[in-house]
Amino acid sequence: MASKAFLERQAVAIPSHEDVDILAAAERLAGEDLCSISDLTSAEVRAILKLGHEVKANPKEFRRALDAKQMVLMFEKASLRTRLSFEAGINTLGGNAIFFDQTNSPLGERESIADVAKNVERWVDVIVLRTYAHDTITEMAANARVPVINALSDFEHPCQALADFMTLEEHFGSVEGLNFTYVGDGNNVCHSLMLTGAQLGANVTVATPRGYSPDIEIVTLAREIAAKNGSEVKLTQDPQAGAEGAHAIYTDVCVSMGMEHESTKRAPIFRPFQVNEALMARAQANAVFMHCLPARRNAEVTDAVLDGPQSIVFDQAENRMHAQKALLLLLLGGLKNAERFAG
Ligand code: CP
Ligand code: NVA
Repeated sequence: MASKAFLERQAVAIPSHEDVDILAAAERLAGEDLCSISDLTSAEVRAILKLGHEVKANPKEFRRALDAKQMVLMFEKASLRTRLSFEAGINTLGGNAIFFDQTNSPLGERESIADVAKNVERWVDVIVLRTYAHDTITEMAANARVPVINALSDFEHPCQALADFMTLEEHFGSVEGLNFTYVGDGNNVCHSLMLTGAQLGANVTVATPRGYSPDIEIVTLAREIAAKNGSEVKLTQDPQAGAEGAHAIYTDVCVSMGMEHESTKRAPIFRPFQVNEALMARAQANAVFMHCLPARRNAEVTDAVLDGPQSIVFDQAENRMHAQKALLLLLLGGLKNAERFAG
């Protein structure tokens, strides 16, 4: 008779990806930072996702893997998902989270970022940052001897993209050759999704209004990575054409945190880029709808789509925790304490 643990494991559809070497990634990533998805190789992205599936299916096996490890979260911006998924995540690995509210005083204002890094590294094992300037994150990473993780900057949101592609793997089994379409502002979330999709061999299409396309360096890099993985990255200003034949349609707010002064100007520009039932009808019949959340209901997406049967937004939110647990295990060298990976 099959054991209970075996049956529990079978209940979760984990993509097999047998060629993915989690231990090789663990060796390379121990002590490293995650400022951008471009810090990772394709094999490392695959390993994080594979470990994310393992952690989700078998959380008890990792219960003490980061015993007594201390994580500080220093956030200049508001957060629901990122803060709670990191806090719950490290707690369930045996570690501890300390939240440091920087919303009223940006990092680097009271003392230099380098001095903050040289203090904080004496007490904690990992620094998780949510900032306005991306340079704040890279500067902290350059000065701290402990891993630094980007929990959203104005340029990237790598933890979000890892969880999102883990969610797509869960849904479709593999994302290689999958048509992934992002509709809306070419922002931080869009940048990380483009790089992650390219790393995993998905075909990425980005539909933005003129003047709101993603950063050209990200586009060039994503195209180079995609070419190596047999996929394509396309830009368009036509949301209908972009949605045609997509397996996944993704959108985000058109006014990111810090851009609120542009709300009135942006609203009419982004109206034709709203994800609604008509746009979803252009996609594959089995297409999913995705959003990093928080959503501005009936602005960038209608209630009918956000709450509809194709929406997987809360699976994405759930997987933030599992993907980040995998990331923490790899950056903090915790796998050796998990039975399955020990010795
Ligand atoms: N998606 C996301 O990062 O959500 P929060 O801003 O609530 O953390
Ligand atoms: N692009 C959004 C994402 C929020 C999770 C922002 O930066 O505000």
